[in-house]
Amino acid sequence: MSFPNHRPRRLRTTPAMRRLTAENRLAPADLILPAFIREGLTEPSPISSMPGVVQHTTESLKRAAAEAVELGVGGIMLFGVPAVRDAQGTASLDPDGVLNKAIRDVKAEVGDDLVIMGDVCLDEFTDHGHCGVLDSQGYVDNDATLEIYGRMAVAQADAGAHVLGPSGMMDGQIAVIRQALEESGHKNTAVLAYAAKYASAFYGPFREAVDSQLKGDRRTYQMDAANRREAILEVELDLEEGADMVMVKPAMSYLDILADVAAMSPVPVSAYQISGEYAMIEAAAANGWIDRRGAITESVLGIKRAGADTVLTYWASELAGWLKES
Ligand code: PBG
Repeated sequence: MSFPNHRPRRLRTTPAMRRLTAENRLAPADLILPAFIREGLTEPSPISSMPGVVQHTTESLKRAAAEAVELGVGGIMLFGVPAVRDAQGTASLDPDGVLNKAIRDVKAEVGDDLVIMGDVCLDEFTDHGHCGVLDSQGYVDNDATLEIYGRMAVAQADAGAHVLGPSGMMDGQIAVIRQALEESGHKNTAVLAYAAKYASAFYGPFREAVDSQLKGDRRTYQMDAANRREAILEVELDLEEGADMVMVKPAMSYLDILADVAAMSPVPVSAYQISGEYAMIEAAAANGWIDRRGAITESVLGIKRAGADTVLTYWASELAGWLKES
């Protein structure tokens, strides 16, 4: 060819041409809004390391859920912050405990118009902040924890959750939860397995969001950032145990993992754009160093392009609003 080949640029000439030829698109229905509710609050309480995100009261949570429905957001993932904690995380099992009550309140507000998800994990409820109960050596006791997860799952399903999100990375958690759901008559309650969840420094702001009591780290149960192949093992085990959907978490530093999982998973794949990812972009934007809307949109689109069917992001409602207007 004697002429330069302008095929790549020809499809970029106008906004309409770029829109027509885009390989991936974001839609509000792909987005899941993680939300925090704290027991005993009278006003929503800002989370300083996550500007724009709050710990909700019952009323403000119900408003946020109604707004998410209005904007076409796909789901909401609820995290509860109890007033009282103990070594066993007992408040997680109380039908009137903060999280179970929040699920019931949100269900009463939005019914089946939004997929309501509950976090099945003990870290918000234990006074030591670990995702499970401890043995006499202070090691997280996998099997004793499973027994509690099964009961938590039933409590959340009783409250009306459509989907349960076990995030504690205990071995066998999906099987135990599935069995507990079947035995309690919740055959249609789905499980979104936090399958490949890595121990990450980027969870920092979440610890503030749930007033976590954790000292130390979660490296004996969450995955090591060095490992790629192991994510496939985690996903395969969760699928065998009955996971309806699987998740990769965090998202932005783990896009290779997400692409691997998307290539092999026969069920929908989620990715969680976590608190530290949110905080980084908000902080840079607040300093005027990056364009906020552009960076948010690009970051979530990149997660989608890597293979996520759904994305948990604290920007879910705001981003859905932008998508609706464009
Ligand atoms: C555990 C849980 C965590 C997050 C979601 N579920 C914290 C952790 O594993 O340390 C983090 C989410 C985020 O950082 O946005 N219940």
